[in-house]
Amino acid sequence: GISLMKLAHLFGVDVEGACGGNLACSTCHMIFSPQDFSRLPPMSEDEEDLLDLTPGVTPTSRLGCQII
Ligand code: FES
Repeated sequence: GISLMKLAHLFGVDVEGACGGNLACSTCHMIFSPQDFSRLPPMSEDEEDLLDLTPGVTPTSRLGCQII
């Protein structure tokens, strides 16, 4: 599969991904509308843990590299 982060890069969307999708940076942080958020695949515990440390995290935040 291809992650939402990679897809964003392909379409020239300005989102980072400093660690290359290895759950080590959180620069791929994305904030979704509640509608979109509810349609995303569930979060892993590792994603949740890193999101907890992400600046500006919101209830509808995800890490783009983990959405595949
Ligand atoms: Fe580093 Fe997603 S690209 S955590």
